[in-house]
Parts: sequence; C-alpha cells; structure tokens
Amino acid sequence: MEDIVQVENISYSYVQKHCALSDISFSVKKGEIFSIIGSNGCGKSTLLHLISGLLFPDSGKISFKGDAITEDSLKDQAFNSYFRESIGYVFQNSDNQLFCPTVLGELIFGPLQMGKTSDIAMERAEAVMKMLNIDCLRDRPTYMLSGGEKKRVAIGSILTMNPDVLLIDEPMSGLDPKNRSFLIELIFQLNEAGKTIILTTHHLELVDHFQSRVAVLSEQHRIERIGNAEEILADTDLLIKTNLIQEHLHRHGNISHKHLPSNFLFHRH
Ligand SMILES: Nc1ncnc2c1ncn2[C@@H]1O[C@H](COP(=O)(O)OP(=O)(O)OP(=O)(O)O)[C@@H](O)[C@H]1O
Ligand SMILES: [Mg+2]
Repeated sequence: MEDIVQVENISYSYVQKHCALSDISFSVKKGEIFSIIGSNGCGKSTLLHLISGLLFPDSGKISFKGDAITEDSLKDQAFNSYFRESIGYVFQNSDNQLFCPTVLGELIFGPLQMGKTSDIAMERAEAVMKMLNIDCLRDRPTYMLSGGEKKRVAIGSILTMNPDVLLIDEPMSGLDPKNRSFLIELIFQLNEAGKTIILTTHHLELVDHFQSRVAVLSEQHRIERIGNAEEILADTDLLIKTNLIQEHLHRHGNISHKHLPSNFLFHRH
C-alpha cells in the first residue's frame, strides 16, 4: 500500500528552546490505523500539529501523498484547499476546536468553507448527526455541552468535511466507558470506509483494541520504537522505560505490595 503521510527526520522546539520533537521519522500507509503513543509531554499533540500543517518543523520534512507540506507550499491557494480538505484534525481539547454558536452551525461550517452548497452542507450535517447520535443537540450552543458531547460534535465537524485522513488526538480523553466503546466502533467503521486514521494516546487499551502499527515516543521526544501492537504491548521493559505503565502500590488490609496495573495483561486470541 502507498504511503499517504511521510515524516522524515523532523525536529521541533517551541520558541527555539523547548524541545518537543527530536529526529522523528515514520510513514503511514493509505487506509491504515497508526497509533502514536507516549507519556504526557512527549510531543504527541505537537506531532499532529506538524502533520496538519498548523506548525512547521525546524528541520526535516513532512509529505502528504508525496507533496511537501511547508509554509511555502501552503501559500498556494489550490494546494492549501486540497490539503486542508484531505486532512481532518480532531484536537485533544474540543474547546480549542468549537467556535460556532450552535452544533448545527459547527457541522455545516467546514463544508460551506470548502465551497459546498448549503443543501450539501445540510445533507452532510444530517447524516453525521445521525451517525453520532447528536441530532438532539443540533440547536444547542456548543459551550453549554458536556465534555463527551463536545467531543462528538468536534468529530462531527471534521466528518462533514469528509477528509481522507483523520488525525485524532487522545480520542478517549474524558469519555465514559459507553462513549469510549462508541468511539472505538466509529473509528473502526471510518477505517473500514477507507479513511486513514492517525491517533495519539497514552491508553494502551486503545492500542490493544486497534492492533495497529504503533510509534512509541520517549520522554526525550524521540521515536523509541515502531512496531505492531502485539510486540509493543508484550515489551514490558519498553513500556516501563517510556512511562506507559508503572508499578503502583496496592494495599490489602495491613499488607501493601507493588505491581503492574491489572489491565496490563491484554487479551490474546
Ligand atoms: N505552546 C507551547 N510553548 C512551549 N512549550 C510547549 C507548548 N506546547 C507544548 N509545549 C512543550 O512541548 C512538549 C510536547 O508537548 P505536547 O503537548 O506535544 O505533548 P503531548 O505528548 O501531547 O502531551 P499530553 O499527553 O499531555 O497531551 C512538552 O514538553 C510541552 O511542555
Ligand atoms: Mg497532547
């Protein structure tokens, strides 16, 4: 399968002094689910900002379907529109994404910006509201929604643009078990419908669900390992080193002992 996103030796520091990413390389194939995992602050969100062309690397190169994504290439209006329509980015924090007065307004904003007619924008919004069970929220102001509801609307506002690639930053953050299951199922469905999914997480449970290829980022903001889910999840030393699992103290009456989290042993078929 052809590469759709290529990341080659990129480094990025905020205000030229806070290193967020160091010499990162990987490629994502068309139609795959690719997970980027790592502990807090290792650079996951920064990496998605770079792939989506919201930030640009200090060095190295990012390409989309072979075209370099740079400040210069995105100055070309036609290329900019093509790229922005092709890659949809669901932010870690929905509050940074939602700005329209109502849910419906949020859902039609993207397609209208892309030059679609209001009939098409409405058609897409209706389909997405049905898919995400948010029809009842259509006239609600987004700032009055719960975190889980905002997450659905944020995802919906990207889906109405029908991008080829979805970047989803921490899809499970703040969701209850029912909403987590719903979202996992939705990501599977979108992938089966042909979408390439790049997601970040520090929840190993999600890596187990998707059984995707995984890039593990270290606390030094580097790629520690790239591998398939099964081999990454089986490597306890790697997961401890990258702070993705930790021993914790456990108390039984007067006796306490340390062990790894009970959900660490993932199921095998
Ligand atoms: N606006 C900013 N200015 C300066 N440093 C920043 C900024 N945003 C992030 N950083 C730093 O860049 C590094 C990577 O941050 P990033 O948000 O990409 O991490 P993350 O892996 O997404 O973390 P989390 O799991 O907490 O979401 C961190 O050390 C962070 O302190
Ligand atoms: Mg983050």
